[in-house]
Amino acid sequence: MMVTVRVATHRDLPSILAIYNQGIEDRVATLEQDLKDMDYITNWFNEHTNRYPVFVAEYQNNIIGWADLHPYSHRCAYGGVAELSVYVHRGWRAKGVGQALLSALEAFARKHDFHKLVLATFPFNSAGLALYRKMGFREVGVFMNHGRLDGKWVDVLWMEKLLELKVE
Ligand SMILES: CC(C)(COP(=O)(O)OP(=O)(O)OC[C@H]1O[C@@H](n2cnc3c(N)ncnc32)[C@H](O)[C@@H]1OP(=O)(O)O)[C@@H](O)C(=O)NCCC(=O)NCCS
Repeated sequence: MMVTVRVATHRDLPSILAIYNQGIEDRVATLEQDLKDMDYITNWFNEHTNRYPVFVAEYQNNIIGWADLHPYSHRCAYGGVAELSVYVHRGWRAKGVGQALLSALEAFARKHDFHKLVLATFPFNSAGLALYRKMGFREVGVFMNHGRLDGKWVDVLWMEKLLELKVE
C-alpha cells in the first residue's frame, strides 16, 4: 500500500471536511457535535501559517486522512509547544495511516524549532490512545468532567511528547 503524506492545499478541503465530520459523528474524537461546512473548514485552514501546517495522507488520488499542528497557546513562552489533531477516514483506520501522519508532523516540528507536541483526547478513545502511546506520547493527566458531549460530562486526557530535552 503506497500512502503518501504531503502538505494540504485548498483543493483537499472537501475531503478534509468529510473526514472531520466522520470524526464528529463517531463521538470519540472531539467535543464538537454539529457537522461543519466548507466555510468553517476554509477559515480553519486559513488560520494555519508558517510553522503550523496541515498534512494529508493520500492513496491513489484519494485523501484518506489529515493531521495538523496548531498553537498550544498564543503566549510567547509556549512558542516551542504545538498541539496536534489527527483524523483518518473511517474505511482506512487501523492501517497505519495515523502513524504515517504523526511521523510527518513530528519530523516537521523538529525542523521548525518545536521542543514538544501535546494533544487532548478522550480516555475512551482506544484507537487514539494506542496510536499516541505507540508514537511515544506520555499521559500528562486527566481533567475530570472537562467538557460536555451530548449533554454529559466527559473527561479529557492530555498527552505530550518531548522532542528534545532543553537543559539549561
Ligand atoms: C485515532 C486514529 C487517528 C488512529 O489512526 P489509525 O490510522 O487508525 O491508527 P494506526 O493504524 O496508525 O495505528 C496505530 C497503532 O494503534 C493501534 N490501533 C489502531 N486502532 C486501534 C483500535 N481501534 N484499538 C486498539 N488499537 C488500535 C494499531 O494497532 C497501531 O499499533 P500497531 O502498529 O502496534 O498495530 C483513527 O482511528 C481515527 O481517525 N479515529 C477517529 C478520529 C479520532 O479519534 N482522532 C483523534 C482525536 S484525539
